[in-house]
Amino acid sequence: MDRITTEQLTRMLVGTGTPTGPLYRRLSESLAELIDRGELPPGALLPPERALAVALTVSRTTVVAAYQELQTSGRLERRRGSGTRVRTHARHTVSSWELAGDHASSQFLDGTPAIDFMTAALPSLGIVADVAASLTRDDYLQLTTTHHGYHLKGLPSLRERIARWYGGSTAPDDILITSGAQQALELVARGCLQPGDRVIVEEPTYRGALDAFARTGSRLRTVPMDGDGLDVDALEKLLVAEAPRLVYVQSPGHNPTGVVMSADRRRRLRRLLDRYEFVLVDDTSLAGTSLAPTDSTLGTHDRLVTVGSMSKLFWGGLRLGWIRGAPQTVGRLAQVRGISDLGSSLVAQEVARRLFDHYEDAVAERRTTLPVQLRVLTGLLQQHLPEWTWHEPRAGASLWVRLPDRTATQWSQLVSRYGVALLPGAVFGAADDHTRIPLMLPEATLREGIERVAHAARERR
Ligand SMILES: Cc1ncc(COP(=O)(O)O)c(C=O)c1O
Repeated sequence: MDRITTEQLTRMLVGTGTPTGPLYRRLSESLAELIDRGELPPGALLPPERALAVALTVSRTTVVAAYQELQTSGRLERRRGSGTRVRTHARHTVSSWELAGDHASSQFLDGTPAIDFMTAALPSLGIVADVAASLTRDDYLQLTTTHHGYHLKGLPSLRERIARWYGGSTAPDDILITSGAQQALELVARGCLQPGDRVIVEEPTYRGALDAFARTGSRLRTVPMDGDGLDVDALEKLLVAEAPRLVYVQSPGHNPTGVVMSADRRRRLRRLLDRYEFVLVDDTSLAGTSLAPTDSTLGTHDRLVTVGSMSKLFWGGLRLGWIRGAPQTVGRLAQVRGISDLGSSLVAQEVARRLFDHYEDAVAERRTTLPVQLRVLTGLLQQHLPEWTWHEPRAGASLWVRLPDRTATQWSQLVSRYGVALLPGAVFGAADDHTRIPLMLPEATLREGIERVAHAARERR
């Protein structure tokens, strides 16, 4: 039966539970959530109390009390000599804290500490509201009477606009509109991967991609990266040794590190694509958030799939992204999409089409605000947490910070008690010695959050 390691469990706990109440109760609530959602499956063997206590920087009695509570509620069974397991037929009896109020469970799922350093979303640009408000009744009439409303591949005029924006040989048939880049990655994963396929990702990488690839049953391998992008020599060795089906990169801006792939790395990566049989997925979601002008593109190729998004440059609430690939790939992925979703909203797509006319202005606006926020955050870190270090990001909306001591998971547990939600680097598939801090929060929130973390660090010492 599945043995859950301490590291796996601490990763799974991130973002669960509520930020208030006694520690043992918060831990038991988080574990209950994972069990009820099936993420900790029946029969799964949980880590020993002592090991979990060390990883979470809590006392052993806290873990013992949490496990006991879950045993009482019928979710765990504990036998001497064989450890603590999720019950095979998890029967959970309603306990007193669940009866505390009908809203308890939604609070439990939605509860976020006061200062959220986990989400690195960008605020919408004003142009999104302007463009959305500029649509008249006649525009809507035109949209609703011209189209039946179901376009699996996307609104033809938006596909045409994106193809024109790419220029060169890109044609509308090469474009599939998706409900965000996340759906694009999920479609690529479902359409291109079989259980057991090898997938290579950079270390660290975007965790939504890790989730999408892992769900297909593929086996993930990582290549290291530095300030110029992924290590192409290490990648070539893996291509020879593992014959992967897919390689995932983010060339124009990397989440979480903010690295922009250098021209030399891009050239060498392209050459590998010519020499080895693999699908290269370039997630360009962060394009448009580079702090200085860059010319980072991998061009086109039959086995290159480029993923784009409106989320970072304009607004995540549009929920629009796209895939650019060979027309056969686009056709196949559209079929895969049709199983779960018959297309993205045409209204949002019409807004997006018009937003493309403002693309360069939007890039200029992001390029004005992001560096200012970066200065604010790095100034606060230098002042309050001088041992935390980083490389200047060249794109994106966050700072990838190296922590001087303890694991990032331990840091995130520690600061959650001071009302700060911090994301451990381990969720990005990397060594757990980094955390990602968002740039685009109000200065007062950044200040309060960093001061609380510094306070936690002092008290801990
Ligand atoms: C690298 C990367 N890819 C994809 C996504 C998902 O973007 P979307 O909002 O378009 O689904 C994100 C969002 O954080 C991202 O950082």
